[in-house]
Amino acid sequence: MRRMETAPDPDRVKAYALAVWQHKQGELVALMAHLGDRLDLYTALHASGPGSTAEQLAQRTGLDARFLKEWLRAQAAAGLVQSDDGESFTLPAEAVPVLVDREARTFAAGALTPPLPPSVLDGVAEAFRTGSGVLYDRLGAEGARRIAAMGDPWTRTALVPEVLPRVDGLVERLHAGADVADLGCGTALALRVLAEAFPGGRYHGYDPSSVAIGAARELVGDLPIELHVAGVRAMPEGAFDLVLTFDALHDMAHPDRVAAGVRQTLPDDGVWLVKEVRSSGDFARDRRNPVLAMLYGLSVTTCLPSGLSERGGAGLGTLGLPPQAMEELGREAGFGSVEQIDIREPANVYYVLRP
Ligand SMILES: C[S@@+](CC[C@H](N)C(=O)[O-])C[C@H]1O[C@@H](n2cnc3c(N)ncnc32)[C@H](O)[C@@H]1O
Repeated sequence: MRRMETAPDPDRVKAYALAVWQHKQGELVALMAHLGDRLDLYTALHASGPGSTAEQLAQRTGLDARFLKEWLRAQAAAGLVQSDDGESFTLPAEAVPVLVDREARTFAAGALTPPLPPSVLDGVAEAFRTGSGVLYDRLGAEGARRIAAMGDPWTRTALVPEVLPRVDGLVERLHAGADVADLGCGTALALRVLAEAFPGGRYHGYDPSSVAIGAARELVGDLPIELHVAGVRAMPEGAFDLVLTFDALHDMAHPDRVAAGVRQTLPDDGVWLVKEVRSSGDFARDRRNPVLAMLYGLSVTTCLPSGLSERGGAGLGTLGLPPQAMEELGREAGFGSVEQIDIREPANVYYVLRP
């Protein structure tokens, strides 16, 4: 039977169209925030104090006053900066730990990078046709940095003081000088944080992406971190006290094989610390997450293509390792215990797996 088409209510069409344009607006607001971060405009506006004008900001930054005025009005229109008259502008106090202070755990401006380059998007569109994905490498160095910027603030501020003490005996072992590997290390941020906090350890980063390892090499400086363009198969058996896999297991085409491989790299008292994106495994419950659409967008453009980049890939997607799935994966790979620790990090949870 043919479905009867009824014309939609024009008011609902209008409201729906507005909702769609607001998403377009979000894209442009993010771009404006990126420019603000790149040109240090938030820092300058903060230093300039309440009620600053575009001319004052121009004097302070050496940038063009007309461009600054339009940017400031864009910020005020988006509600990121306060202004009633479009002439004088104030950065509210709550913006400082989000847009100015790079050391703050809530710093978000660094993650508001421009959208994917057209060549990457072409690959994703093609993946819709073929069902086979795109390697992380295709995202390029900018992609590796973009991904790192999203997780950086929490890894820098919470890993050592809040996460590690929740794993029995781990801090003591790290102080004594442990062998640590990060699988799927990306730009090696977690290893850099650990190598600074526990200088007696030996640190190895593994990632099959030469782009990510290239970016990591530029950042590790003199820290005692060896980097390998390789996956789990290159990791020696029984060699590590601690293996980290942060925001990466769901990206792997064969997480089951990787988990079994990690098990081999650990002695019986070793620990695998996995950081995964917070999800319940139930879409209806996950709807409470105010940035769920962003997470699914990341999934379609980044995580899912990576997880389908090999034949028979699991394609878990960004939200693909909720507690039950992680528990099953760990047990099947030969881990005797899989525990979850939740430090109330808004986007992530941590799993501790022991042989
Ligand atoms: C979202 S990034 C996370 C990087 C880093 N751990 C972080 O927290 O910033 C995921 C990383 O997993 C890596 N990856 C993908 N498949 C992998 C595999 N099979 N084995 C190891 N790493 C893999 C990617 O190259 C990418 O660098």
